[in-house]
Amino acid sequence: MKSLLKIIYDVVVGLQYGDEGKGKIAQKLALIPGLYQISARFNGGPNAGHTVFHEGKKLVLHVVPVGILARLRVNFIGPGCVVDPVLLKAEVEGIKALGFDSKTIYLSELVHLITPYERKIDGEMNKRLGTTCKGIGPTYAHKAHRIGLRVVDVFYLLSSNGTEDYSDIEMLEQFIMSYPLSLMPIYRQDWLSASEESLKEWAEAVQWLGENISIAKANFFLSDGEARKIFSERKSVRVLAEGAQSVMLDNTYGTYPYVTSSNCMPSSAPAGIGLPGFATKGRVIGVFKAYNTRVGSGPFDTELLYGSGDLICEAGKEFGSTTGRKRRIGWLDLPDLQYACELAGVDELFMTKVDVLSPGVTGSVSVCFSKGGGVATYKQFDAWDSSHIKRDTDITGSFRSFLDLVEEHLGIHVETVSVGPNANDLVRTKPTPEGVGYR
Ligand code: IMP
Repeated sequence: MKSLLKIIYDVVVGLQYGDEGKGKIAQKLALIPGLYQISARFNGGPNAGHTVFHEGKKLVLHVVPVGILARLRVNFIGPGCVVDPVLLKAEVEGIKALGFDSKTIYLSELVHLITPYERKIDGEMNKRLGTTCKGIGPTYAHKAHRIGLRVVDVFYLLSSNGTEDYSDIEMLEQFIMSYPLSLMPIYRQDWLSASEESLKEWAEAVQWLGENISIAKANFFLSDGEARKIFSERKSVRVLAEGAQSVMLDNTYGTYPYVTSSNCMPSSAPAGIGLPGFATKGRVIGVFKAYNTRVGSGPFDTELLYGSGDLICEAGKEFGSTTGRKRRIGWLDLPDLQYACELAGVDELFMTKVDVLSPGVTGSVSVCFSKGGGVATYKQFDAWDSSHIKRDTDITGSFRSFLDLVEEHLGIHVETVSVGPNANDLVRTKPTPEGVGYR
């Protein structure tokens, strides 16, 4: 066997309908000194929006993994993702403006690119599914149809003169205009034409990215790949894999057809990053909110209807970070959560937005613990004030009972709860073991 880098990967996964606060948790983990060398995204695209804060400044990351903010040496966008060059350019510009090194962002050459055409088709699909309209579904569909455009196709076209010169914009514009999706008779329709400006903008973004981020070959993590060289002084590396969307939005295991187009499960992480087959799974970190939200269409058994969730929506700032849409609100659904935990193989749980369910916002808090015979049964708790919770021993009263019910139902310990929007508002529910960086 050639000299392979020993790779262990941990996965952060959402257990509800997305927007559980995975970005904040992933940022906290990425910042643990020396623990991770690589952060990676393995699914989804600009439909995701991880809201994070750096030195008080808010940043929404769509496809760049949050490890960039911890200045990890490799921040990898894996082949399981889809990328819109125009949006990625804007995202990378924001990251550069904060002083981070954009060359540590590696975009796999196997990633499929969203073009103005896919965005347009998605706009049509949104009517039924309530998608984010970012072109995600059509791009994954075109990948399966084998008519998609990959990074490798456009970047090698640009550098076909043998240099890494990405300046031949006209050639790229010609190329995207003759994009093979036009070969599909079904698409030879007037409404699908893209404006010249949007194609130009797209081509310019591709060119800009070629100069400002790194393009990773398919063998990046293999014995002859670049990771081996970057980490030549190390025997092993640990990867923080950040899931986008969630188990309940997974293309296979979620509430199909009201799901996203990619596989969001931790089991998809190594394939979606391109890790060698013998990379070792480390920990699966599941994230869920103390209540539940959903954007877009689809079933939501515990939904608070007729505006009864509006105060929680306001208090929790439950508006989409990608589309600005108001999120639907509901109570925590333990049978669904158990399904998600078991399928994902969760080792460690983070509960977020505990502070939102305060007496000023809601009189009581309900939890669905059974859906036998299609009837949801709830247990009720008094709303709690979590502002005094600074450490494990502060978890008492109504919130303690709520937490006990959740842990008892799932049979998994909730190790950390989030009691506020800031990075330091994470409280471990047991005393912190020596050497672990978050309190
Ligand atoms: P798409 O991923 O844009 O195709 O949208 C499919 C469904 O997934 C829609 O209901 C979206 O609102 C939902 N969705 C996609 N990404 C996210 C996310 O990051 N958070 C929450 N919902 C999402």
